[in-house]
Amino acid sequence: PVIYVITPTYTRPVQKAELVRLLNTFLHVVNLHWIVVEDSPRKTKLVANLLEKAGLNFTHLNVESPHSSKMLGSKLPFRTPRGTAQRNLGLRWLRENINSTNPPEGVVYFADDDNTYALELFEEMRYTRTVAVWPVAFVGGLRYESPKVDPEGKVVGWKTVFDPDRPFAIDMAGFAVNLQLILKKSHANFKLEGVKGGYQETSLLNDLVTMDGLEPKAINCTKLLLFGSGTPKLHFLICLVSTLLRGGNITALQP
Ligand code: UGA
Repeated sequence: PVIYVITPTYTRPVQKAELVRLLNTFLHVVNLHWIVVEDSPRKTKLVANLLEKAGLNFTHLNVESPHSSKMLGSKLPFRTPRGTAQRNLGLRWLRENINSTNPPEGVVYFADDDNTYALELFEEMRYTRTVAVWPVAFVGGLRYESPKVDPEGKVVGWKTVFDPDRPFAIDMAGFAVNLQLILKKSHANFKLEGVKGGYQETSLLNDLVTMDGLEPKAINCTKLLLFGSGTPKLHFLICLVSTLLRGGNITALQP
C-alpha cells in the first residue's frame, strides 16, 4: 500500500529545517507520496526547490488560510484551526487524482511539519483497514496522549487532560485513514467554521468511523513512535487553565 502524507506548511525562519528533517525521514519509507500544501497565495521557491531535489514522489500545492487562522488569533483557545484549508486541499487532490473505481491500496496520514516521526510508525499505519490510532508524545500539555485500549484490544476512550470527552480526543498526527474510505466518503472534510479548538480531528473522523471501528496500533497503543513539537509554555498554560475550568485533574499535567 501507498502512504499518502499530507503536510501543511508555512513560511517562517525554521521552515526549511523542519521540512529537511521530514524529508530525511520520508526518504527511508518505501511507497510514500508526500503532498505538501503551502499556506500561501503562491508556491514558494524554497519549497519547490526542496521537493524537486528530494528524490521522492511528491505533489506541491498551495492555498492561503483565512486571515483569522493566522497571527495571534491562532493561539487563542477559540481560534480558527491551523492547517485546515491545506489538509482539505490535500484530500481534494486525492479525490480528483486517484481513480476511485480502481484505487490502489493505500492510507492517508496528516503529518504536520513540526513533529518527529519514527520510521516504525509508517509500517504500523500501512495496512490500515479503516482508521488506525496510536499515542502521540509531547502534545496537550502532557508527556503523551493516547487512546485507551481495553484488554480485548478495543479503543474505549482517551487518555488526555484536555477534554477527554471529545468523540475523538486525538491529535492530528495520532491517526491514519484507509485511502478507499477517504475516496468513498467523498464529503468528509475538516470543518473550518464553528469547530471549537481540539475538535478538528473529530470534525473529520465523525464522518468516517465510530470509536468501535478504530484499529489501535503500536502494540495496543503502548509505544511512542511520534513526537510533537514539545510543550511550549503558552500551550501548557492553555491546557492548565482549561483543565482547571473543567474541574479536571492537573497532577497529570507536565510542564
Ligand atoms: C495543534 C495540532 O498539533 C495541529 O495538528 C492542529 O492543526 C493545530 O493544533 C490546530 O488545531 O490549529 P499547533 O502547534 O497549534 O498544533 O499548530 P502548528 O503545529 O503550528 O500547525 C499545524 C500545521 O499547520 C503545521 O504543519 C504548520 O506548518 C501548518 N500551519 C501553521 C499553516 O499551514 N499555517 C499557519 O499559519 C500555521
